Amino acid sequence: MSAVRLCALDELEDGEARRFDLGGGVVLAVVRIGDEVYAIGDRCSHADVSLSGGIVDERACTLECPKHGSEFDLRTGAPQSLPALRPVPTYEVRVTDGEVVVAVEEAP
Ligand code: FES
Repeated sequence: MSAVRLCALDELEDGEARRFDLGGGVVLAVVRIGDEVYAIGDRCSHADVSLSGGIVDERACTLECPKHGSEFDLRTGAPQSLPALRPVPTYEVRVTDGEVVVAVEEAP
């Protein structure tokens, strides 16, 4: 695993999703809810749609796919509603000294 700095915490809007393309096919939808930051795979498991264009439900801790409305749990990546059936990947995020850092697999 390697740690990749994404941005400063202040650069993330509370309750919004933002897309980060880390290269090597790793694209994240990053969501800030208060002081917590979550990162899931940006590609919906139902079709090739960017989840970071979707709506965050802060209370449910989900991100809704903008295409057909499946809601993905930001903690587990699991869909909470149809039509998506499969989870999306989740990534461990740390906030250290106001910097948002994500753990990703090393490139092969
Ligand atoms: S493309 Fe995301 S639910 Fe269909």
